[in-house]
Amino acid sequence: MLLFFLPVVALASQPTKRAKDYDRGGALYRQNCWMCHGELGEGDGPASDATAAENSSISGERTPQEVTEAVRVLMDGRHAMPALAEVFPREDAERIVKWLENPKPIQKPSKSKKDGKNEPRKGRANTKTPKKAPSR
Ligand code: HEC
Repeated sequence: MLLFFLPVVALASQPTKRAKDYDRGGALYRQNCWMCHGELGEGDGPASDATAAENSSISGERTPQEVTEAVRVLMDGRHAMPALAEVFPREDAERIVKWLENPKPIQKPSKSKKDGKNEPRKGRANTKTPKKAPSR
């Protein structure tokens, strides 16, 4: 019986795991890669001039073979590209490459949304109340 349940559990937990893998891939990218490869892997990072990572976009879809190759470059390094095998395990390299398939900008919305919501409301309340009060 238990054996029949296991695959169901595995399937059910997959979307969440995927989202977590994606987020971790993005977080690792922002720690280790963006300065050379740019925020979204477009080759426009601040250190790209010095390292010749410039103009080589590393984002976008990859064939399984290209994924393997990219993971290998990450782990072993290539020319000016540093080897990162000592920084994180292979699974993390796979997460980063996965994230690069569809990279999204650094997520600030939760903070800026709050700020955006609070500030105009406060601003309006502050400017309205004092202006109306003295004129009456
Ligand atoms: C010090 C700057 C630097 C850092 C940091 C860096 N890279 Fe690179 N990367 C390069 C350079 C330069 C190349 C081109 C290597 C070559 O000439 O073969 C490259 C190549 C690559 C390639 C292969 C591109 C291709 O067209 O085959 C991938 C994929 C890649 N980097 C991903 C990453 C990821 C992911 C990270 C972070 C974990 C990272 N790099 C960190 C400089 C960097």
